[in-house]
Amino acid sequence: MKQICVIGVGYVGIVTGACFADLGNKVVALDVNEQRIANLKKGIMPIYEPGLDELVKRNVSAGRLSFTTSYQEALKGAEYAFIAVGTPSGVEGEADLQYVAAAAASIAKEMTAPLIIINKSTVPIGTGDWVADIVRGAQGKPIPFSVVSCPEFLREGSAIGDFMSPHRTVIGSLDKDAAGKVAHLHLPLRAPIVITDLRTAEMIKYASNAFLATKISFINEVADICEALGADVKEVAAGMGYDARIGKYFLDAGLGWGGSCFPKDVQALAYMAKEQSLTTPILDSVMNVNYDRRKAAVKRTEEMLGGSFKGKTIGLLGLAFKENTDDMRDAPSIDIATELLEAGAKVRGYDPVAFETARPHMPAVDIIGDPYEMAKGCDALIVVTPWNEFKQLDLEKVKGLLKSPVIFDGRNIYDPKAMKEMGFNYRSIGRGTNGK
Ligand code: UDX
Ligand code: UDX
Repeated sequence: MKQICVIGVGYVGIVTGACFADLGNKVVALDVNEQRIANLKKGIMPIYEPGLDELVKRNVSAGRLSFTTSYQEALKGAEYAFIAVGTPSGVEGEADLQYVAAAAASIAKEMTAPLIIINKSTVPIGTGDWVADIVRGAQGKPIPFSVVSCPEFLREGSAIGDFMSPHRTVIGSLDKDAAGKVAHLHLPLRAPIVITDLRTAEMIKYASNAFLATKISFINEVADICEALGADVKEVAAGMGYDARIGKYFLDAGLGWGGSCFPKDVQALAYMAKEQSLTTPILDSVMNVNYDRRKAAVKRTEEMLGGSFKGKTIGLLGLAFKENTDDMRDAPSIDIATELLEAGAKVRGYDPVAFETARPHMPAVDIIGDPYEMAKGCDALIVVTPWNEFKQLDLEKVKGLLKSPVIFDGRNIYDPKAMKEMGFNYRSIGRGTNGK
């Protein structure tokens, strides 16, 4: 049993803290957001994440997990301090590290014993050294510490499973003792452990996310070629995926990626390169291809409605950036709704969990708590995220509710042949058979 402090109870911090507690450690999770901490003390979660509610409550009642806004309390007896605060994009795409700096300085001021400080947040290459300088500068009196990079690879909506069954644990530190201790913390996960230097560990995180984003933009470009030439991109992806060098995951063509990681991390990696006077033609194209998906979805829907949205009502199925989350950061639905509204359409939206978090991002969208209610009177629906509950919608009922039976399936969740037989004017992405 180790004593751990986690700074930041956002999408990454709360899962990290709860999972380490579940492994038998004693965890104190800190946040500067008093409301978040007060809510957690009342058993109210700061985010939607499947399984989190039970995991937190069980570990709180077992006395392994507690919450505070006091660094002094959080660090008392702690041997490890994980920094999991936000690292949002700055105006030029660089990572905004003000919160990391604030956390590092607060740790330095309140630590009373040797500590291993672990960057869990995604931070630019070189940040580990920078955090060490901040801590050294902010300490009242010198107390031994090490800074270690241990990047997170958690997908929202499956974060607990991803934490408990990681593909690998990456640990960056030249301090062999510190690296060994952090490795020991992760031993129960029984996953391969990569121990390397700080900068390399930080780069593994960025390169991994940028590659996954590249894979998605690649299959989306292939999807458009499939559509033009009559091939089916779902079958193409399946055929590709049997090759172990390619792998079957992250080959779902659709409306592309959003969220708080891919957009921020691809931009940040390109920014770091440009700071070194390097060009990044691949990363630039990956971003361009990705954001064009949203425009293309609106254009194709407009074509299906005879070329104009004037006086039309469009329903969006799925509002968060992906299924199984309430996170609206860089959600494709926001850009799609904006384009539709600018084109003169009325827009409605439904999301199984993001109705509250979506509202501030799309004030002009009529957010409705039931998919059938939302479909009533719409001239078209756009499938924006592939929630399971959309896959089994009663489509005959939906057809009867729609003013016109038009569906643009941005995530290829329906079967084109079946949709045609039901009498829908249906388009999907790269299925080759659209209209053929
Ligand atoms: C964040 C980063 O955005 C991501 O790049 C990194 O990989 C993991 O940490 P996330 O958990 O999604 O991801 O951030 P967010 O949901 O914004 O939560 C950050 C939390 O840190 C918030 O609760 C915020 O109140 C808290 N915080 C912020 C602090 O506790 N102290 C601060 O000084 C600033
Ligand atoms: C991602 C990484 O997967 C994770 O390892 C990292 O720690 C944080 O960023 P996340 O953004 O939470 O996780 O979700 P993910 O499931 O990776 O999806 C990212 C985006 O790509 C979503 O918008 C999703 O809709 C999209 N996506 C994903 C596709 O368009 N096609 C796919 O095949 C997979």
